[in-house]
Parts: sequence; structure tokens; C-alpha cells
Amino acid sequence: MRILLVDDNRTTLRYMTKLVRKLDAEPLAYDSPESVLSDTSRLDFDIGVIDFQMPFCSGVELLRALTRLEKYRDKPFIVVTADTDPSTRMDALNAGAIDFLTKPINPLEFQARMRNLSALVDARNKLADKADWLRQEVEKALREMREREEEIINRLTIAASYKDQDTAQHTRRVAEYSEAISAAYGLDVDRCRDMRLASPMHDIGKVGIPDVILLKTGKLTEQEFATMQRHALIGRDILAESSSSLLQLAAEIAGSHHERWDGQGYPLRLAGTSIPLSGRIVALADNFDALTTARPYKAAWDVETTVDHINERSGSQFDPDVVKAFNKALPKILSVMLAHLPSTVSREVQRVRSA
Ligand code: C2E
Ligand code: SIN
Ligand code: SIN
Ligand code: FE
Repeated sequence: MRILLVDDNRTTLRYMTKLVRKLDAEPLAYDSPESVLSDTSRLDFDIGVIDFQMPFCSGVELLRALTRLEKYRDKPFIVVTADTDPSTRMDALNAGAIDFLTKPINPLEFQARMRNLSALVDARNKLADKADWLRQEVEKALREMREREEEIINRLTIAASYKDQDTAQHTRRVAEYSEAISAAYGLDVDRCRDMRLASPMHDIGKVGIPDVILLKTGKLTEQEFATMQRHALIGRDILAESSSSLLQLAAEIAGSHHERWDGQGYPLRLAGTSIPLSGRIVALADNFDALTTARPYKAAWDVETTVDHINERSGSQFDPDVVKAFNKALPKILSVMLAHLPSTVSREVQRVRSA
């Protein structure tokens, strides 16, 4: 415990210094307010004991000057005074003193006060430590919750992949395309990350579609396609009503990734900005991936044809602003393709890039 002692009377100052040492505390003795104030850059103490009557600058003025400084604002100060005038004491309290000592100093009273104040300072420090510890625990718990959410998402995605060999690679690419488009669209880093984590579940509703339709190699009949379209609402229902904001976003994406900007999509035929932005972005990411890769029912398209196809559909199938973001994100998207696709396609991407 470091105790600041300020008194212009050298005898009293020496006496208080001795009493503080007896308490096993460290005295920081000053014989004038000026010397204290000129030392504030390095002065550090736990308790302040200040004489009320000093020449040039009274104890109350010193107190005001000290408590104006952030680092001393919450320190406990005691004012030493012979004056029993209530208005004097009021001044000291208003300036931030929490207690008084009467002159001449009674050693037992002085030491008892210092012990009490030391206990108070200890308790305060412990509380501050505890608050700090709690803050760290909360941060840790939030981080763990976030990790659990990500794990649940990954496991759901794995569950869906048992139906379709292609899915794991497809969902990974759609996740990265969605993130890249989101970033180019101007969404902040956290939102882009959420898009990367939530978008892999856009087709989770396909677990509810019969395999004869899901794995059909030829073209779907009108009725089969109608059944297939149910995957959007099934996916939304699987994910909806979670208290996790990430799963809520995933539900929004699953339900809206087949809507079209012109209102000709499904399941709700929403148009324009009534389609959630997340769904407008994943619609484009999903289409880009579906077109550039082979499916049981179609061959892979080359990148140029796909990019032209998407640009032609800006304002009809796709949100024009999302198409702009897609074009801006294209270098990043192509490098994701390169990293995730078989070598034949990688060669194709390299050909387009060098063209
Ligand atoms: P998917 O294979 O993941 O395709 C996602 C979306 O990419 C399709 O949504 C569509 O918007 C686009 N897309 C994929 N291939 C083509 C294409 O060759 N031309 C054009 N213009 N767009 C394409 P969509 O059409 O709502 O289909 C949803 C899902 O239904 C597809 O997911 C796929 O699993 C299935 N599906 C659609 N058509 C057929 C089909 O003719 N045969 C089979 N077996 N499945 C189909
Ligand atoms: C899925 O992501 O669950 C389906 C993959 C696909 O065929 O588009
Ligand atoms: C937007 O349009 O920029 C976001 C609002 C929406 O999701 O419709
Ligand atoms: Fe889909």
C-alpha cells in the first residue's frame, strides 16, 4: 500500500511518515502542494492524506487539482484539519475527500483509519480484477458459442452431403463465392464472414427430396421439378426459429436463393429488394457454380459463357448491384475455382485469365 502524505509542517509530516511505516505501508511524503503537482507524471499511490491549511495552495485546492486527473479520480483522500467548522469540512467533501483526521494527530486513530482504507482499496482492486476476469469469461463463452455454431453448420452440411457426392466441394465453393461477392458489394467483414458460414446450407432442404428426383441423370419432368423446388422451403423450415443468428441467416438464404429479381423465381415469387440481400447474393454464387461444374443432368460450361450468361440476366434473374459486385469479385472467384476444381477446369480458368 502506497500512502501519499502532504503537509507543510515538517514535524507532522515526519510523524505521519513514521506511523505509515509502522503499518508496513510505503509513505510518499511531500512538504508542499507544488511539489506534489510537479510530480504527477510519475506519482502513484493508493491513499492520499492531505493537510487542509498550507500556504499558497490549500489542501482542498490540491485535492481538486489531483482529482481532475484521470489516474487519481477514484483514489480515497483524507483531509487533515484542526478546523471543526462544518463549512470547511463541506468544502473538503465537495472536492473529493472521503474522510477527515483531526489535528493534532492521534496515532491510534490515524493507524485505524489507514487500515480501514487499505481494506477498502484491497476490496476495490479485487472487484476490478473480478470484473476483468468476468469480461474475459464472457468473451471466451461467446467465442465458444460461435465455434459451436460453426461446428453445427459444418455437421449439417456433412449430413446433406451423404445424398450427393458433389455437395461438399460445391458448398465450399458457394461459401467462398458468396463471401467474395458480399465483400465486393460492400458488406462489412463480420457480415461477409456470416455469409461464408451460412451459405453452405442453402440446399440443405434437398435431404427432403426423393433420390429418384435428386439423383436423376436426365431432364426433370415438370412435376419432378415442382417437387424439387420444395427444397427451398424445406431448407428454410429445417433451419428456421433457431436463436442462433447464423442459423437464422442460413434459413433466410435457404428460403430465398431461388427467387429472381424480376419476381419469376420460387418459392414465394418475391421481387427486387423484397428478396433478402443474402438470397440475392447466394442465388448468383450458386448459379455461377452450378453452371461452371458438371451436374448429373448437364455438362460444365466454360467461364466466359457463364459470365456472359450472368451479365445478360442482370436486372431480370439477378439483382444488378449484385451482378456488379460479382464482376468486381471475379478475380477472387476465379482463384477460388482454381483452388477447388479438378485440373481440367483449372486449365480452363488459367486460359481465361491469360486471355
Ligand atoms: P443445382 O444443380 O445446384 O442448380 C442450381 C441452380 O443453378 C438452378 O436452380 C439453376 O438456376 C441454375 N442452373 C443449373 N444448371 C443450369 C443450366 O443448365 N442452365 C441454366 N440456365 N441454369 C442452370 P433450379 O433450376 O431451380 O434447380 C434447382 C435444383 O434442381 C438444381 O440444383 C438441381 O439439383 C435440380 N435440377 C434442376 N434442373 C434439373 C434437371 O434438368 N435434371 C436434374 N436431374 N436435376 C435438375
Ligand atoms: C447441396 O448443396 O446440398 C446440393 C449440391 C447440388 O447438387 O447443387
Ligand atoms: C439492400 O438492399 O442493400 C439490403 C436490404 C435487403 O436485404 O433488401
Ligand atoms: Fe438450391
